[in-house]
Amino acid sequence: MAHIGIWMYQNGGGDRIEKKMVAQLQERGHIVSTGLNLRYAVAENGKLILDGLNLYELDCFFSYNAGEQTKYQVYLYETLNEHTECINNFRAFRISEDKFKTNDLLRQHNIRTPDYFLCHREDVETIRNKVLEWGKAVFKTVDGWGGIGMALVDSKDKLDMILPFLNHTGLRFFYIEKFIDYDGSDFRVDLVDGEFIACYGRKAKKGDWRTNVTSGGSVILREDCGEEVIELAKKAAQAIGIEIAGVDIIYDREKEEYVVLEVNGIPAFATPEQEKLGLNFNDKKIEKIVELIEKRVKKEAPKKSEKKA
Ligand SMILES: Nc1ncnc2c1ncn2[C@@H]1O[C@H](COP(=O)(O)OP(=O)(O)O)[C@@H](O)[C@H]1O
Ligand SMILES: [Mg+2]
Repeated sequence: MAHIGIWMYQNGGGDRIEKKMVAQLQERGHIVSTGLNLRYAVAENGKLILDGLNLYELDCFFSYNAGEQTKYQVYLYETLNEHTECINNFRAFRISEDKFKTNDLLRQHNIRTPDYFLCHREDVETIRNKVLEWGKAVFKTVDGWGGIGMALVDSKDKLDMILPFLNHTGLRFFYIEKFIDYDGSDFRVDLVDGEFIACYGRKAKKGDWRTNVTSGGSVILREDCGEEVIELAKKAAQAIGIEIAGVDIIYDREKEEYVVLEVNGIPAFATPEQEKLGLNFNDKKIEKIVELIEKRVKKEAPKKSEKKA
């Protein structure tokens, strides 16, 4: 028997997913505590207390809430990771939250990503030359989400307009990617513990270059998701060392190859509306996550009993 803590998003059907997960864990004899929002946790003298629980005594903490986590929550997540099994593990979570760090690591593992460039904000000339060399570039904040906080620069005029503006933001450095010529649709590959769960896609709204649903994109079914895409996604997740991943992939029409755009550490389950569309991977994903949690807890078990002895 293990004690498992969960912090899971509740909107878009998340509450129902959580209920199913809790039921399966309880069926297997575990104790489950939900709603563990680290925002309300306090640390004191070797304990991390929330709702009367010492979170350090949990056997596993499952963190699955994509709503922007505050610095405090992330700080405590990092701390908690030193005391118990966290899913996702904190290191991988942090890398997945940063576009530069993700791509940097993927490149090290010879995984294709868009060409990227990062430099101090004062190196304006370097950025200028890079954008002009590429012709079309995407300025991104390394920790953005939902297609927000990005700018496509495809002319010298736009570049001249955006550079002074960027200098007035709080950004310390600029991160840019070469714009990939793609058909406006992407592949989302869902993985749990290295295993394939599902592949679907999103299509950008007419006139937009971003596929995010938040930016008007719509979910599409993908019958054309072949082994190559799945293998690429698996490699990317493995490179990051992340247990639960939603890997975003697009097809580069110029280079004629698939590239990894992002590795999401908290990929959403299908919403009730998306389930109606035919995205029916939720149950499989729940089952795999429950298995993953059990596996982790078991791994920890001998260490804990040693400690007590
Ligand atoms: N280098 C690029 N070339 C072409 N399109 C891109 C590029 N980077 C991002 N996009 C488009 O913008 C969307 C959002 O970018 P992404 O890096 O995934 O950030 P977010 O975290 O906001 O989703 C992608 O899904 C894709 O449609
Ligand atoms: Mg994305």
